[in-house]
Amino acid sequence: MKTATKDLENDHIHILRLTDIMEQVTKTVAPEISDLESIVSLIKNFADGFHHAKEEKIFFPGLEEKGFSPHQGPVAVMLAEHIQGREYVRGMEEYIKLCKDGDITALKYVFANMSGYVTLLRNHISKENNILFRMADNVLTPEDHARLLDEYSKVEPVSPHGGGVTDYISEIERLNSIYH
Ligand SMILES: [Fe+2]
Ligand SMILES: [Fe+2]
Repeated sequence: MKTATKDLENDHIHILRLTDIMEQVTKTVAPEISDLESIVSLIKNFADGFHHAKEEKIFFPGLEEKGFSPHQGPVAVMLAEHIQGREYVRGMEEYIKLCKDGDITALKYVFANMSGYVTLLRNHISKENNILFRMADNVLTPEDHARLLDEYSKVEPVSPHGGGVTDYISEIERLNSIYH
């Protein structure tokens, strides 16, 4: 059976693949700037714009109805970590821009922000998969799952090539063929 938690866990598989790529990128002497920009774009549009949007706008509010506070406890921690992730993305963008302007020292700060993001997201996803989602499965009814899945389907992302999630996954494949 498709469930609201399994759907998010499936997104996590792709996001974790992206973190593996990012880890490899940080070991690369001179990665293509366009690939760094593509990674930032994948995080902003897929990991954050799509996946975190589903969690923040649909899944967490669904849990709030079951008594999970957004102000304390696991949901509050998850929300705070999404914000921390956005700080790393801001750092990546800032230093990628400096790289493009010819600042040769900026790459190591791009990498530092990437590594911070990788560590944060791996821990974050582990907590969601192993703790929060399992708690959620204990309180969500089959009807709740169906309703949440229906709401998710309304936030399918619009990607540059019009293929939605498929475009993001193929870009992850492309990057993976270079950085592995
Ligand atoms: Fe999350
Ligand atoms: Fe997540």
